[in-house]
Amino acid sequence: MADDQQLEQELAALLEQEWFEPPEGFRARARITDLSEHEAAERDPVGWWERQAKELDWFEPWTTALDDSEPPFYRWFSGGKLNVSHNCLDRHVAAGLGERVAFHWHGEEGEKRAITYAQLLADVQRCANALKARGIGAGDVVGIYLPMIPEVIVAMLACTRIGAPHNVVFGGFSAESVAERMEFSNASALITVDGARRKGKTAAVKSTVDATMGDLSHLETILVVRHTGEACEMREGRDLWWHDALQAADPDCPAEPLDAEHPLFILYSSGSTAKPKGIQHTTGGYLTGAAWTFRNVFDVRPESDVFWCTADVGWITGHSYIVYGPLANGATSVMFEGAPDYPEKDVWWRLCQEYGVTIFYTAPTAIRTCMKWGAEHPQRHDLSSLRLLGTVGEPINPKAWAWYWRVVGGGRCPVVDTWWQTETGQIMITTLPGAQAAKPGSAGTPLPGIAAEVVDNDGREVQRDVQGLLTLRHPWPGMLRTLYKERDRYLSGYWERFGAPTYFVGDASRQDHDGYFWVIGRVDDVINVSGHRMSTAEVESAIVSHPKVAEAAVIGQSDEDTGQSICAYVTLRGDLEGDQELEVELREHVARRIGKLARPRRIIWASELPKTRSGKIMRRLLQDVAEGRELGDVTTLRDPDVMAQLSRSAEARGDDG
Ligand code: PRX
Repeated sequence: MADDQQLEQELAALLEQEWFEPPEGFRARARITDLSEHEAAERDPVGWWERQAKELDWFEPWTTALDDSEPPFYRWFSGGKLNVSHNCLDRHVAAGLGERVAFHWHGEEGEKRAITYAQLLADVQRCANALKARGIGAGDVVGIYLPMIPEVIVAMLACTRIGAPHNVVFGGFSAESVAERMEFSNASALITVDGARRKGKTAAVKSTVDATMGDLSHLETILVVRHTGEACEMREGRDLWWHDALQAADPDCPAEPLDAEHPLFILYSSGSTAKPKGIQHTTGGYLTGAAWTFRNVFDVRPESDVFWCTADVGWITGHSYIVYGPLANGATSVMFEGAPDYPEKDVWWRLCQEYGVTIFYTAPTAIRTCMKWGAEHPQRHDLSSLRLLGTVGEPINPKAWAWYWRVVGGGRCPVVDTWWQTETGQIMITTLPGAQAAKPGSAGTPLPGIAAEVVDNDGREVQRDVQGLLTLRHPWPGMLRTLYKERDRYLSGYWERFGAPTYFVGDASRQDHDGYFWVIGRVDDVINVSGHRMSTAEVESAIVSHPKVAEAAVIGQSDEDTGQSICAYVTLRGDLEGDQELEVELREHVARRIGKLARPRRIIWASELPKTRSGKIMRRLLQDVAEGRELGDVTTLRDPDVMAQLSRSAEARGDDG
């Protein structure tokens, strides 16, 4: 108890401090210790990015560094040819680093596998040949729906080896979401697993996917990794066991020289309509961005550091900072299959000690959860190997920042708060840890080669300390190139608002008097639950697909633990009445349609939704009701009495805890 009080006092004292300079011990050996890179990039951003691209191995050099002749369809390193898997594997093996561990994989039940660069290269070649044997080649989309097991890395790299864009679906999404994403992306193949493990239990994966997949005529191959031994039916001619296919495959598969602009992957993310957006990234620019930011934001020394990003590979964070950034730099990472509280709430810290993790990257929501579980869990372990900490996904509240700094980092480790998006592909705003001081709650400043600005509704830059819309003013290599098969949506979603080259981010932000950016949150109908992007429209559409539901409106309600949580207002058909049983049923219905992470935390029954005379739902009022605030202007409502009923209903029901 005395310890808790002492910690509270220490945190309170830290919170008085505005700036956190890079600790001396860290700065003394950091890669970058001043702003000279920022200055060089500001003088000549394209030339500066070219220098970074030259750190990669190119089969053929580019002729044009940035082709901006058709904005906003920017092209980087046009004419150049390279291969991502070659850059991530072959060149390290050729440099004599084959025996270096790429991943210390740690399974849920404590299994361990150290996977070297040479082993990864061997598996990737066989997997690439197995895909080729099924007729898959450059341009064919391959879906990947796998848990955090080494095969997911092999599968992704095998796709890059032959130029087949991968479309990874986060393992927490439902089988229905997988089917939908395979259909949208016209996938030729899917790589999945018999079953997945979660906190000591197993769940069938392949058979659930089969049940929802129906007959997609373009999906000709399903490769199945054997992981839990769950029973699954293998359809003759379409389904193959991963181990059989790899064993039968030729061990040599040369890396295909691909155009710098060849599509590398599609990753579906939530937008403001129900249909997810297929964000498309390309080969040369993306790898340049992921590789530079990984090396320098995390100050990585591949020969001695052990990096751990706790995200799932199914998110952009996993793509850029579990797979491509670390491997392009020949780094060693930890990859963990399990949950942060299984078998015990100290498992993360136990693994940090066991593997000598030096750089740790996680989400603010995870830090808040660990904070709630108590400092005794990290304190039980020797965390002295840590030298740098990072966060991503949502704004971090200063208290959680201070806890992370003090309890996990022991006051020796800089904390980098990294702002970026699925669309940006790479970290955009942060502090370079050996060069810039951190301010808890602010992500920092744009990285070298990145230009950000806060503007008003008309696109004019606002004064310092004034809130406005965050924009990016200059193309960067890791940027998305389009939305898969939705060119118009790409234009309208990101470029129409202010006109190219100004990219509309969709976040509200302000820049303070020191030039530091404070990101406030989304300005569209996207909510951020534990750093995961959800679309209100997507959840609404899942809810209304339930036969008892007439209408639904979903909002993001602020939440101490998860940043925002999903709150749904639901009106039922006819004179049906909502009760607890139906609440449970609706939550499960949403979990089946989208995934557990989209389950509404709170359901409020409404006899009617507040609408304007033109029939538009007034979400702002729903937000006021959910958060218990005094109502804003109700005069434009068709029927102002609706609000009184809603307030009563909101008070009557709690949340699911
Ligand atoms: O609102 C911002 C928030 O997450 C959004 C991007 O979500 P997603 O594409 O899923 O990528 C998340 C991981 C890169 C942004 O528009 N966001 C991300 N990082 C931060 C953040 N908000 C504040 N601070 C951050 N560091």
